[in-house]
Amino acid sequence: MSDKRPRRTFAVISHPDAGKSTLTEALALHARVITEAGAVHGKGGRRTTVSDWMSMEQARGISITSAALQFDYRDHVINLVDTPGHSDFSEDTYRVLSAVDSAVMLVDAGKGLEPQTLKLFKVCALRGIPVITVINKWDRPGLAALELMDLIEKQIKLRPTPLTWPVGEAGDFRGVLDRRTGEFVKYTRTAGGATRAPERRMPADEVEAADADVWADAVEEHELLAADDADHDQARFLAGETTPVMFASALQNFGVAQLLDLLLDLAPAPHVTAGVDGTLRQVDDEFSAFVFKVQSGMNAAHRDRLAYARIVSGTFDRGMVVTHASTGKPFATKYAQAVFGREVTSIDHAFPGDIVGFVNAQALRVGDTVYTGDPIEFPPVPTFAPEHFMTASASDIGRYKQFRRGIEQLDQEGVVQVLRSDLRGDQSPVLAAVGPMQFEVVQDRMTNEFNSPIRLSRLDYQVARRTDAEGAKALAGARGCEVLQRSDGTHLAIFTDQWRATATARDNPDVMLEALPAGGS
Ligand code: G4P
Repeated sequence: MSDKRPRRTFAVISHPDAGKSTLTEALALHARVITEAGAVHGKGGRRTTVSDWMSMEQARGISITSAALQFDYRDHVINLVDTPGHSDFSEDTYRVLSAVDSAVMLVDAGKGLEPQTLKLFKVCALRGIPVITVINKWDRPGLAALELMDLIEKQIKLRPTPLTWPVGEAGDFRGVLDRRTGEFVKYTRTAGGATRAPERRMPADEVEAADADVWADAVEEHELLAADDADHDQARFLAGETTPVMFASALQNFGVAQLLDLLLDLAPAPHVTAGVDGTLRQVDDEFSAFVFKVQSGMNAAHRDRLAYARIVSGTFDRGMVVTHASTGKPFATKYAQAVFGREVTSIDHAFPGDIVGFVNAQALRVGDTVYTGDPIEFPPVPTFAPEHFMTASASDIGRYKQFRRGIEQLDQEGVVQVLRSDLRGDQSPVLAAVGPMQFEVVQDRMTNEFNSPIRLSRLDYQVARRTDAEGAKALAGARGCEVLQRSDGTHLAIFTDQWRATATARDNPDVMLEALPAGGS
């Protein structure tokens, strides 16, 4: 499927249950990569191909792992990068967002903006990722359309610029007014939304009598919006000031084709990327890519280790030897895969915007750059401020070797941040995470994959600040505070609460105490 057609690489961000899996299915259905809705994400007894590598994941029925789904649409190749679907926050989610050029924010029409949506949106804003908003579940009773626009404007400070406007209130979804052409796009329901929903476009003067009232309402609101500077402006969208909005029912396949059209028409294509030293890598320069996710333990029998990389420039050909920027060593790409759920296919060629999984990539870490030709190193994938801290020790001291190996592996994968200090010693490092579920992942994998069950005990810290070696000295013995070192060398001062962090900064004006990007709260 890989060729030189233009790419769109995006992720769907949403609160659990807003319909992300349903939308993913619907998008794939439209693009005809699957013939029957349900083949992508298994829910409610449908065929399951979603990643269920980990037993814990199966037990909880959630997807902890993520990769990319690639499909064709209108002479384009679309890469939909999957974000974890559970409500707990992990750095994984952030990293996935470092690999996309735009995001689709899915909002449940009945619920408005939910906590997870808001958090994910903040990350998009931080990374300058343009966001398209889809108001989903319009086939069910929900909030008024104008009220939802108001919520977006007030809660996330983005100006909504609807491209479609619903004809019929939530629960009575007749179709949409295409605000760019003034046409009525009338929908026809299909049984269970299992096939492409037929749409009929008609000019305003052909709207049937049965729809006349709701159509008139839609036109009136559309005019209100136009008078209120709520029309799409591509430059403001790309600058992160506005969000194009559309209305949909993923379940009924309403509005899904329009979303795909929108992605092609408005969402940015892969673009020039700057290296740490400011060098620019154009998409048609020689090959370069960065690793945004490392994962192992997907197959208990094989101990695979997959490093997922987003291609920034050039052409990837399987078997090519690339340079690993952080070590300068060559890396042979004999095995490269496309992974979505359990479907694994071998990749021979890939292009900017595509996601490639390198198999057995022991040397590759999250944030690493690989390239051919002129050297390039992309900025590290940002780490977020952990808010949960636990000490970990081997339950069976005789298994200390396994314990060390496991912790090191999970650290490299970025499952948790591992913090150490001379004071605490190496027997029981501190594990730090953005979301508490990460500790369950650690516990599960330490037991089942590394054969070293662990004891975790909670530490009474909640806030982390970046400091340096001098800071570590200055703060030694300070109350409600401890300085530890992360495996990448960063010193982190951790505090019992926000108040303590602020007070310590005030009392030690010469000590570096930098806030890290906020994660969980
Ligand atoms: P998620 O991945 O974001 O967690 O959400 P998911 O797609 O699993 O959807 C959550 C629930 O919302 C599902 O119902 C799904 O059918 C329903 N849903 C999604 N989109 C729409 C929509 O546009 N309209 C309506 N009415 N419902 C929608 P469920 O009962 O939890 O699961 P299922 O057994 O029906 O799959």
